[in-house]
This record gives sequence, structure tokens and C-alpha cells, in this order.
Amino acid sequence: MSSVVPLHPAPTAETSAPRPRQLAAQYREVRARTIALIGGLSAEDCQLQSMTEASPVKWHLAHTTWFFETFVLEPAQRGYRAVNAKYRVLFNSYYVGVGPRHPRGDRGLLSRPSLEEVLTYRRKIDTRMVDGLLQGGWSDEILDRVQYGLEHECQHQELILTDIKHHFWCNPLRPAYKAVSVNLNLGEHPSALEFVAYEGGTAEIGHEADGFVLDHERPRHRVWLEPFEMASRPVTNAEYAAFIADGGYRKAQFWLADGWDLREKENWRAPLYWLAEDSDAPRAFTLTGIVDLDMEAPVCHLSYYEADAYARWAGARLPTEAEWEHVAGQDCAVVADDANLLERGLLNPGPGKGEGRIRQMFGDVWEWTGSAYLPYPGYKPPPGTLGEYNAKFMVNQMVLRGGSCVTPRSQARATYRNFFAPHSRWQFSGIRLARSLSTRTRETSGAA
Ligand SMILES: [Fe+2]
Repeated sequence: MSSVVPLHPAPTAETSAPRPRQLAAQYREVRARTIALIGGLSAEDCQLQSMTEASPVKWHLAHTTWFFETFVLEPAQRGYRAVNAKYRVLFNSYYVGVGPRHPRGDRGLLSRPSLEEVLTYRRKIDTRMVDGLLQGGWSDEILDRVQYGLEHECQHQELILTDIKHHFWCNPLRPAYKAVSVNLNLGEHPSALEFVAYEGGTAEIGHEADGFVLDHERPRHRVWLEPFEMASRPVTNAEYAAFIADGGYRKAQFWLADGWDLREKENWRAPLYWLAEDSDAPRAFTLTGIVDLDMEAPVCHLSYYEADAYARWAGARLPTEAEWEHVAGQDCAVVADDANLLERGLLNPGPGKGEGRIRQMFGDVWEWTGSAYLPYPGYKPPPGTLGEYNAKFMVNQMVLRGGSCVTPRSQARATYRNFFAPHSRWQFSGIRLARSLSTRTRETSGAA
């Protein structure tokens, strides 16, 4: 399989240009990056659906296009004529307000339209979108929807990679998405895991500034934090291997009941994609093929249940999302230029470097928090059908923070809220530990 086309750089829209022209530039860049991601895939690759949650690449390509057609072009242009009226059902993910939807688990059965037809669909919508933006006259509400569509497309760029990884994992040939050898171990060694103390008190989380963020990141509001400690870096493969070696997957006392049952039913014995987990040098399936695991890189592809069990075994817990965001605001206000995000192209978590007292909050792995995905106080979903984007998922999901090695850089921000069901393992999800710090301990340690 040939290697993929190099990724486009992060959006560099003309910031002094009028908003529609800026959006047109961003639109071209984001859409081109999606196409770059599939440069090494065949039409057969793009058809695969390995499980209900992991959609075919072809469906992602069509659905993101459907999003612009349905939520921007239709309301913006009187008498709009759809490219193909049947796509309204085929590529509607979950928007009940739009109408009927093709079953999620049956997306892999859509051999028609072909990949070529879907790419033609993309090109037609791209022309209509850019023409519409450059001609001017779209309302602020429509322009906000363009911004939503761009954020949405970035989310699906990550999903294209996490889903193709799972599709390829299910093939005994274990093909690589990117066949070129990627040297993950750059001679960097993570520093010893340390816990940094925070005194807590009243803090503020959520987004307050102007500019686009997703609806569920607002409003900014006050929270109360008891004194706590946050780990200086994510948990590594070596540290997680010690949990396995100590029988962590066989000791019920560390597990939530739902997780223990699922572990038994699914025969979990190691993170998803690990091979020969009992050896001293485990190997793993990655987007770059089967590799020797870098034991100093962050562990990933864990469910919430495994992350929680590890934390209990380690005498710690998962941070709350409020603690995580508070620490990010204090110690990682700027995302490092070399953060291991999608644009860096490594496609795997790597060992962190020793800058700052809190490291690797953005990039490498999403970090499970102990917080259920709920609306912030005063949250209001957007009016109309776009209100379904996040609001209706605020049950039975846990929040993850930070971003992974396949997250576009534009989504690496302290207020960004990712969420998945606790059994999910196919995302690049890892662990950062936290500990509660009693007032008495704080007084004796002099923590600030
Ligand atoms: Fe979507």
C-alpha cells in the first residue's frame, strides 16, 4: 500500500479578510486535508465497516459533505436542489429533525454510491460552498453553520483514522494504513511520574471568549475544587504492563461491576491492539503496522473501565473534567508547537519530553476523566435540528480531555469536551492519574 499524501498544514486563513472569505479559505484547507488522509486507501478499504461504531471511510466522506448540504446550502439558498435527494437518508447520521436515517450498523452495505460517486458529490458541494461564501450575502447564522461544519469535518478526520485502524485490525493480514516506518522512539525518555499539588477552591471552566467553540463548551461557570494532585504525564505502556503482570485484569477489587462483567465477556487481558501481552516486550498493531511497543509511550486504546481499574490499582483516581481544565489553564495554556497531534504525522502516541511540570496534556492520547458527560449550568443547545449535535448524548457517556495523535490541531484547546461510552476502546484513549489531597496533607506538605 502506498503512503498517504502529506497532510496540509494547519489552516492559515487570511485573518484580515472578511469572514466569508476567511471561511472559504478554511473550508478549502479542511476539506483538502480529509482527501489527503485517504490518499493511500483503496476503494475496498473505504468500504469496510468492522463494527457498528466504526463507519466506512466512504460514509465519512459522504456524511461530512451531507452536513454542509443539509445545514448550510439548503437553508441558505431558496429553491435549493439537492445533488441526490436519496443521500438525505443514506448519509444522515442521527438527526431525527432531518428525517429518516439509514441504520448505523448497515453503512458497510452501501456499495453504491461508489467511492468515485461520493468523491464527485464532495466536489460538487465544494464548488457550491465556496461559490456561496465568495458571492457574499449569507447571514451570520449561516456562516456560524459553516464553522460548525468545519469543526464537524475535523472530528470526522479523527474518526476516519480510528475507524480504519479497527477495520484493518480485523483483517488477519493486519495491513498498515501508512506503510512507511515511523521512528516513535526519538531518544526521549519520560521523566518520573510526579504528582503536582493544586490547592483548589473556586475555579472557572468553560469557554467565555468570542470565536467559535462547540455549544457544550459554554457557558463558563464556577466550580468548587477540593485540594488535589494531578500526574505530571500520562501513564506509560511500561506502567500499564506492571498492572497486567500484577494480575490487574483478574482482581475484581479494582473494577467497577459493569467493567468486570464486560472484561469477562470480552476476555480483556490487555489494551485493544496489544499482541503477546504476556511477553517482556509486547507488540501492538498500529496505523503503521505491527510494531514493538515503545514501553515509554503513553498507553492507549483503553476503555473507561480499564482506566478506572488501573487508577484504583495505582492508589489514585481519574481526574474530574473540572480539575483537568483547571490544570490545563494554569500549566498548559498554550499548546506546544511539537505536540503530537494529527499534523505531526506520527499517528501513534510517543514518549513525552521534559518541559514544564505538567506535560502531554494535548496530543498523544485522550485522557479519560471521572466526569459524566452532562450539560454545564445554563447550557442551551443551538436552536433547530443542530441542537441534536451534542445535547441528546448527555447520558451514559464519560468525558475525555486533551486530544490524541490523530486529533487535528484546531481541536486542541483546554475547553474541548470529547465523550464516549465507558466500554469504548477503539479511540486513542489513555490515562492521567489524579489524587485527592486532604486539607491536613496539604498543610503539612506546603502545597500551593
Ligand atoms: Fe457527524
